[in-house]
Amino acid sequence: MRISIVFAFIITLVFACGGGSADGTKKGSLENGTQVDPLAAGKKAYKQFCVPCHGMDGKLGINGARDFAESDLNLEERIEVITNGRGMMTAFKSVLKPEQIKAAAEYTIHLGNQKED
Ligand code: HEC
Repeated sequence: MRISIVFAFIITLVFACGGGSADGTKKGSLENGTQVDPLAAGKKAYKQFCVPCHGMDGKLGINGARDFAESDLNLEERIEVITNGRGMMTAFKSVLKPEQIKAAAEYTIHLGNQKED
């Protein structure tokens, strides 16, 4: 009885010292592994409809399309531009569902926040 208590105490000590960071890393990768990509829907719509003018990284700028990294439009304003179009950009309200437009708008914000490689 007493031996097992001492043993348990030692085990606890070993885990408390050495196990800390290893445990943390494991948790992180588990979360990444099980999480669904919140940008997946927007990425899909973007790849399908937006790449020809905006490019994969949002910097292509065909027909005067703005680099998303330089855009200061917020989510609402982007949704508005994508829904109703502007200038040379076509409206997407008859092509995409409102939630796809929102997802695509979020994806353009994500692209704009990407660091240069
Ligand atoms: C036919 C080419 C074309 C396609 C396809 C296109 N865009 Fe555009 N986009 C443009 C152009 C050109 C502008 C600049 C419009 C202007 O201000 O005159 C623009 C502007 C924008 C803006 C506003 C950027 C800013 O800061 O002014 C957003 C956001 C945007 N596009 C997102 C999208 C998304 C998302 C898609 C796909 C669903 C898409 N675009 C598809 C050409 C295109």
